[in-house]
Amino acid sequence: MHPGVLHRRFLNDLSTSLFSFVLPLLPTSEELNVKEEVRGLIEKLIKTLEPSARLLSFGSSCNSFGLRNSDMDLVVLIDDPNATIEPGNFVESMASLLERETNFNVKPLPRARIPILKLELAPSPALPFGIACDIGIENRLAIENTRLLLTYATIDPARVRTLVLFLKVWSKRRRINSPYRGTLSSYGFTLMVLYYLVHVKQPPVLPNLQRIMPMRPMEEEEVMLEGRNVYFFDDVETLRREWSSVNFESVGELLIDFFRFFSHDFQFNNSVLSLRAGQLTKESKGWVNDIDVGGLNEMARDRNRLCIEDPFEISYNVARTVTKDGLYTIRGEFMRATRILTQRPDRAVLALAELCR
Ligand code: CTP
Ligand code: MG
Repeated sequence: MHPGVLHRRFLNDLSTSLFSFVLPLLPTSEELNVKEEVRGLIEKLIKTLEPSARLLSFGSSCNSFGLRNSDMDLVVLIDDPNATIEPGNFVESMASLLERETNFNVKPLPRARIPILKLELAPSPALPFGIACDIGIENRLAIENTRLLLTYATIDPARVRTLVLFLKVWSKRRRINSPYRGTLSSYGFTLMVLYYLVHVKQPPVLPNLQRIMPMRPMEEEEVMLEGRNVYFFDDVETLRREWSSVNFESVGELLIDFFRFFSHDFQFNNSVLSLRAGQLTKESKGWVNDIDVGGLNEMARDRNRLCIEDPFEISYNVARTVTKDGLYTIRGEFMRATRILTQRPDRAVLALAELCR
């Protein structure tokens, strides 16, 4: 058969295989219900400490990029402007309350840079993997970036969700999704995929929600929260009606090209990925590495190896956890993935299994 035809066939096969790969890894409705119950229960308890407190989910439980048995990210928001609450102290009060009133294993980190409370529930039949949950205080930007990610997913769920979910599974299986061990968080990988779909792919698969709307070029607004501009176009109905991509590449093609782009084209040494503004230079952000500052040089050098600008907290490098070795490993994985998917494997299912081995 003609190689072109074979290749077409492989790409179709790859897209179908990606959907079937991801589907069984989605959380069951039972899991979602139990988690929502747990959130409600903890919220009720917290209200006994501070009646104006609300407990909200953020992260993968509500950005549509959740996998089965993933951690719960929760945040306490205090609505009463007269309530004087110090996050560290509030974490300690919550810890003793939940210790007393629930079966959770409770671990407060009140003096961390961002004070949080860690909770764990042992496995049970309804939740064979138990529950792990982090509760933060007043982190309103996280709620907004969760909404931004969800809105991007809603525009083209079949391609966006499939790509992000696959990349999350792949990065976990290949052990490059551990910010504590020098690699990148799920949030970081998600921003890479969205950056690629908004700024790299031509024609783009997604519009830039923080900038110009194609139908109304002047629509740029400012909505301030904690000193940051958190505006983005979130009117999903209008988006559905008025915006449609003219990029018709399949999810399989996009995946291969994503790996290829980050293997060969992206200039990791001097570029910053910004979902908000496209490709920026490290220099323009002041995120240079290799600055020799006495005894601190090791740390400083590692801080800006991989640079991903947070969509709202633009002075924050989401990939600051990635070390020199970590980046080397991540780039090696992008190359390995490109190799596996482009060396004309017969069957896409086998290629995906090999990819995530
Ligand atoms: N977050 C953030 N800055 C980071 C990391 C995370 O603001 N450097 C916030 C984001 O709101 C993100 C949420 O924390 O959506 C959860 O991050 P993470 O656990 O990395 O992503 P999840 O989508 O929850 O992935 P997983 O299923 O692996 O937990
Ligand atoms: Mg999470």
